[in-house]
Amino acid sequence: MRRGLFVVFEGIDASGKSTQARRVAALHAAHFAFEPGDSTLGADLRRWLLDASLHMEPETEALLMLSDRSHHVRSVIEPALERGRDVVLDRYFASTLAYQGYGRGVDLEELRVATQLAIGTCMPDLTILLDIDLDVANERRERDAKDRFESADLDFHARVRDGYLELARTYADAWFIVDGSKGEDEVAAAIDERLSHLSWSHG
Ligand code: TYD
Repeated sequence: MRRGLFVVFEGIDASGKSTQARRVAALHAAHFAFEPGDSTLGADLRRWLLDASLHMEPETEALLMLSDRSHHVRSVIEPALERGRDVVLDRYFASTLAYQGYGRGVDLEELRVATQLAIGTCMPDLTILLDIDLDVANERRERDAKDRFESADLDFHARVRDGYLELARTYADAWFIVDGSKGEDEVAAAIDERLSHLSWSHG
């Protein structure tokens, strides 16, 4: 049986990636999933990870993200792909490189090695980066209670954004950058045009 298609959405908070990821999954009848926290084990990890009142070292944060990912890949993503099901995932290992690596300063090479342990050979066919300016992100972000990452300072988010752009340029064949500051329909059209070149199981 043909392996399913694996498409990942990445971007800083408020980039609009979750809306687009869910839309694309529905359009192609693909399995939609997200990280961190899209499993029974992951739901507990997500609570700790997002709790802004809980002190955590950057390395600890990275390892919890990777724990969630290794369980998610082996219990959900890989089995779905092997069954021939297409998978659309909201955040994957590039989030850890961007947030914990570029953002928090965890050593990138060590993160890459640990990531390999977490995901094995389960690589996406395409990663779509919704890139937005930090001012646009700030305007969009709600002013109410913020989680650990939303409450981080502007410099942190600037490093995360730059990290994403560096990853996208380094692995240009497997990434597609979309200007996420455009209107939702325009962003959707750019994404759909790129995704129309892939062979989906449905539509
Ligand atoms: P997410 O649920 O995608 O939130 P949002 O919709 O606001 O983007 O992710 C929650 C937070 O977790 C987000 O701020 C990014 C952070 N994160 C990391 O720092 N490292 C990771 O590996 C992942 C998957 C997420």
